[in-house]
Amino acid sequence: MPTRLSLLAEEASGCTLCGLAAGRTQVVFADGSPDADLMFVGEGPGAEEDRQGLPFVGRSGKLLGRLLMEEVGIQRSDCYIANVVKCRPPGNRDPKPDEIAACRPYLEEQVDLVDPVVIVTLGNFASKLLLDTDTGITKLRGRAYGYGDRSLVPTFHPAAALRGGADVLARMRADLARAKMLMAR
Ligand code: URA
Repeated sequence: MPTRLSLLAEEASGCTLCGLAAGRTQVVFADGSPDADLMFVGEGPGAEEDRQGLPFVGRSGKLLGRLLMEEVGIQRSDCYIANVVKCRPPGNRDPKPDEIAACRPYLEEQVDLVDPVVIVTLGNFASKLLLDTDTGITKLRGRAYGYGDRSLVPTFHPAAALRGGADVLARMRADLARAKMLMAR
């Protein structure tokens, strides 16, 4: 029997609510376990994600998978991974406010249906959206926030760690360790 999450994915696969639909190869809805205690929210699919139809399968995804194993002790398949926008912005540009707004109900329903204990937002777009703030990730990170009855841990996008080196990476590790602690509560 189809689940509500699989029905939502099917609905999203034909979505034309914003202009990103015109340039996508396919909708990148999510990956991982629908029963996960830990959910990641990224920004939007890149070229490789658009090709494969899965989030975080490029270089950023490889780093995320490694940090997940090293700091949380679980595999990618044990968590749920989604993005703020489900279709690739052309040329990897930032998603626009109208695109984020159009896609937001999908993300909110994903959170409701997966029902994670902890959400980790990766980078500015996901963190600002879910925390409803204009404050940037460098200031936001370093602590946990309430998100309904869940915890939300904002951290850098793995692409920033790939660019920014050891210091960004060390802070990401600390944030993921915080997420692990909150999952155990
Ligand atoms: N960056 C993101 O924010 N999401 C992906 O799925 C891949 C790279």
